[in-house]
Amino acid sequence: MTKATLDDLDVSGRRVLLRVDFNVPMRDGRIVDDRRIRASLPTIEALRDRGARVIVVTHFGRPKGKPNPELSTASLAAHLGRLLETTVPVAGDVVGESARAMVTGLRDGDVGMLENVRFEPGEEANDPAFAQALASLADLYVNDAFGAAHRAHASTEGVAHLLPAASGRLMARELDVLSSVLTKPAAPLVSVIGGAKVSTKVAVLSNLLERVDALWVGGAMACTFYRAQGLTTGRSLVEEEHIETARALLDSAPAKNGVLRLPVDVVVAPSPEAGSPTSVVAADAIPDDQMVVDVGPQTCEQIAADAARAGTVVWNGPLGIYEIDEFAQGTRAVARAVAESPAFTVIGGGDLAAAVEDAGVADKIDHISTGGGATIEFLEGKVLPGVAALSDRDAVRDGTEAART
Ligand code: 3PG
Repeated sequence: MTKATLDDLDVSGRRVLLRVDFNVPMRDGRIVDDRRIRASLPTIEALRDRGARVIVVTHFGRPKGKPNPELSTASLAAHLGRLLETTVPVAGDVVGESARAMVTGLRDGDVGMLENVRFEPGEEANDPAFAQALASLADLYVNDAFGAAHRAHASTEGVAHLLPAASGRLMARELDVLSSVLTKPAAPLVSVIGGAKVSTKVAVLSNLLERVDALWVGGAMACTFYRAQGLTTGRSLVEEEHIETARALLDSAPAKNGVLRLPVDVVVAPSPEAGSPTSVVAADAIPDDQMVVDVGPQTCEQIAADAARAGTVVWNGPLGIYEIDEFAQGTRAVARAVAESPAFTVIGGGDLAAAVEDAGVADKIDHISTGGGATIEFLEGKVLPGVAALSDRDAVRDGTEAART
């Protein structure tokens, strides 16, 4: 069944509860990366242009059901106001008197924001009474929070059952791009999966292995695979309890056909600190007193060659200890190669989005997903609760018609 999008809703003069994911990185009270906020602007602008009264709701951090002034949405509302060149009033609570007064004050085309929805214990518990309280603020619900769509919370899932519920522009684009990667990618499909732990990536590796022409594994988790191959990995991070998991993946039919590719050379250092002296060694010659901190140049060239021949490239997770400049070279080199590839290119995850921006190539990537965990779960083949709960297009259209007559 096709899910409703905001184009299926008649929003004029209606109160629209818009769930966004403005969970952005903040340092010393300043937003260091506002990509997620900017990514929702097309939805907010479309709603305003159509005369909706927009009630923005987001989580911010993990306050665990308790108010925490450091995690207030006030600074997010101020930032949104600057981007929209308008004032965005912010309520002092989520569903209380302040929220009601803020909503009552909205005129057609106005935007206001609720306080951090995770200040309420009912949010993460997906408490029906809290979902009902949220729903009572609005006539319609639009979900643009792809980054939180893997959470079955009251503002992402519960409320969608209580109001006509449609996806926003960002949500619709994420679903469109990521499902086309899984179901009808331009061939060949090349995937690069980095990260520290096999345990968090095993499901995505298994799902992609069945679908891709080449699957590169990078980051510290490559070491768990090396161990499964009987190699030594010095002082590298290895998940001993997942060596068997890595072995099972290496024994799978696609891996045996050469689909699964591990770095052929790596950058090693005695410790994972900045300033630690580095050298490049072959994957089967990692010294006992060193640890893997990045992929090596030969590996980058091979990934670049695969990307150059690809029809679609999908990449999630950095290939080294990206936070430290000396260990970020492999990730940056692959970012440049993916950007140069004529393929349709998709990048997922917050760290990697920052990496392609640092490499100066973000504008050459076809789609940079706003999701972290949500993107991974989608690529694992899971149904995301925030998406499953959206209304079916026909139901919304019928409902809208019925309301008008
Ligand atoms: C994210 O940053 O990945 C999303 O905003 C979800 O946040 P959470 O992991 O705290 O649910």
